[in-house]
Amino acid sequence: MELPVMAKAISVNGERFVVMIGERRIRKRVKEIARRISREYRGKTPVLVGILNGSFMFFADLVRELTIDCEVDFMKLSSYGDAKVSSGNVEMIKGLNCKVTGKDVLVVEDIVDSGLSMTYITSHIGLQNPASLRIVTLLRRIPAIRPETHVDYVGFEIPQVFVIGYGLDYAQRKRNLKAIYRLKYTGNRDVRREYATRNG
Ligand code: IMP
Ligand code: MG
Repeated sequence: MELPVMAKAISVNGERFVVMIGERRIRKRVKEIARRISREYRGKTPVLVGILNGSFMFFADLVRELTIDCEVDFMKLSSYGDAKVSSGNVEMIKGLNCKVTGKDVLVVEDIVDSGLSMTYITSHIGLQNPASLRIVTLLRRIPAIRPETHVDYVGFEIPQVFVIGYGLDYAQRKRNLKAIYRLKYTGNRDVRREYATRNG
């Protein structure tokens, strides 16, 4: 049987993107993280909170690899403005459906960049007094100057490049790519600057 070959490079709106983290590496890392979480939460039933939209694929793969039971819930945020500089303007579009007071909460994110979204999320959930509150993110962009946001489980640390695929979008597109691609060539344009409306 012939397997489809994954494109090493793709174009989106005339911008070139190349594979940065392949499907197999992602799968292996997701399994490793799930094993660690299953071990550290043994005997507990954590509530995994996926941050929409970006984390949906990582979330679905991660929960399937857990060997412990869990509950799932979702939150959706939106932040507007120039994506290169955090606007400081985070808005909640969808909050939690379940009550997490006294529960072990694990927030699942696609990428932590400035940490602004994560700070908002954890302070919001923290108001409900969960028994514990931890964060797992597939990607963490190594901060340029700002102090690092505390994250408990990190899939991959990435440099200051714009990435798409495996849930992450470029203006809502390309979330369905199986690998993570990074922007290769911008010419005189800056995709992250143009990526003005960030929607999860
Ligand atoms: P932060 O609030 O600056 O940490 O930004 C985190 C959010 O911005 C993530 O949840 C993503 O939705 C979005 N984001 C940040 N960097 C990228 C990227 O390179 N590609 C796609 N989305 C991104
Ligand atoms: Mg996100």
